[in-house]
Amino acid sequence: VLADYGISPTHGFLPDVLPLTRLPDPYYNKWEAIVANLQGLILSKRLRGVVDRLPVLSTIGLEHDAEWRRAYMLLCFMAHGYIWGGDSPSDRLPPSISVPLLKVSEHLEVPPVATYAAVCLWNFKPLFMDEDIDNLENLATLTTFTGALDESWFYLVSVAMEARGAPIIPLMLTAIAAARENDAEAVTRCLHTFAERLDDLTTLLQRMHESCDPHIFYHRIRPFLAGSKNMAEAGLPNGVLYEDGSGNEAYRQYAGGSNAQSSLIQFFDIVLGIEHRPTGEKKPTTQDAERVGRAPPPKHNFIMEMRRYMPGPHARFLNDVQAVANIRDFVEQHSDNRPLCVAYDACLSMLRALRDKHIAIVTRYIVLPSREVRARSRSPEATRNKVNLATASRQRAQPQGIAYDARAAAAQQDAAAAASGNKGGANLKGTGGTALISFLKQARDETGEPAIEEW
Ligand code: HEM
Ligand code: ALA
Repeated sequence: VLADYGISPTHGFLPDVLPLTRLPDPYYNKWEAIVANLQGLILSKRLRGVVDRLPVLSTIGLEHDAEWRRAYMLLCFMAHGYIWGGDSPSDRLPPSISVPLLKVSEHLEVPPVATYAAVCLWNFKPLFMDEDIDNLENLATLTTFTGALDESWFYLVSVAMEARGAPIIPLMLTAIAAARENDAEAVTRCLHTFAERLDDLTTLLQRMHESCDPHIFYHRIRPFLAGSKNMAEAGLPNGVLYEDGSGNEAYRQYAGGSNAQSSLIQFFDIVLGIEHRPTGEKKPTTQDAERVGRAPPPKHNFIMEMRRYMPGPHARFLNDVQAVANIRDFVEQHSDNRPLCVAYDACLSMLRALRDKHIAIVTRYIVLPSREVRARSRSPEATRNKVNLATASRQRAQPQGIAYDARAAAAQQDAAAAASGNKGGANLKGTGGTALISFLKQARDETGEPAIEEW
């Protein structure tokens, strides 16, 4: 049953019990007070001082899972604010954050970084209790790094998509059961509804443009979501030291927060039998398959890697569904059943359309702003003054107002790319660590692959 995997039949991967707006035990007031003032503390650059003086609190006062989830979310916001909210990134997290964060992460089976679960799944509230949460007009975030409405909107579009997509989970489990019972009509009906819902989700995704400004996203919000893996250019060559006071800690490296950690989208791929390969790897030919004598086992790739960033029960659910997913085989065996094939292909093309819109978003929110920064760092003025490129882009970023130094780190990264003669931004990486556009295009193209019938 879904509940065994921490999945709600109505909310999907969003928790059934709404995220708590506060930890009930006053023992945690200090955490709550810091996060309540997070934007001010980051802006005034006082967060690090406050966290350094914060005592190491125990997890003993956390009872229900909703409390553990709130604790995780608070600690992740504090951790990323601490790492990215100073003049240069901090490569250490003091024990006041790392000790409880490691405990809470272990309990919830999530990594100790700001994952999609921390900033989206467990960071929302409905504005009106009697209205649904699949409606963007009824959602608010609990916490943000910047206080910008754009940041809230960025998280909430995902929350609304999770909620709107939730009914697809039981729907497609029904379809799997129907395929097992050889009930082609029922499978077709489910696929129809699935395709319609996917179209709805694309409409929701498009609403990103309404209230999230690409520049604010790129310069102010995104830097806080960065991870500690392959982040040498941004100033974390070794990763981050999670101090526990023992002195024996090793540096750790984690990918940053990314929607690739959404279990919902991976669920869609799994039920439709879509396979993703490591970036750059082509689809094996039939000859390859014959040579090997069997279908090759699923390769380790970024999308699989992201399962380790999902809450444990959700990742287990995906593995278990993968073991029983039969829709694609069923459709292949019924290739003469036209309505069935049409319904299946409609799902593929809707999912592909969703990925197309997503690529357009990534272009507008990441690729274009990063190009602007590089163009500015290469401007004649910057070279004439022989100003260090990184400093140039940092100085230029400042007159707009708040000098978040997370932004300076991002500018430094861009400037380093420009200095290395990388005009096309080939080094551009997603917060999850992928070579974004080529990765996303391949994921989109793979979505089309299993199409059964060419009409
Ligand atoms: C992956 C950017 C919003 C779903 C990615 C990646 C980037 C990216 C760069 C590549 C992985 C990485 O390295 O991080 C963005 C930006 C967004 C946005 C800039 C908005 C401003 C969303 C939303 C969804 C979403 C709202 C909700 C469905 C995904 C998925 C992947 C992904 C499923 C994994 C790749 C795939 O399955 O095709 N995103 N994203 N993204 N994103 Fe987004
Ligand atoms: N994964 C998104 C990015 O790279 C958030 O900006």
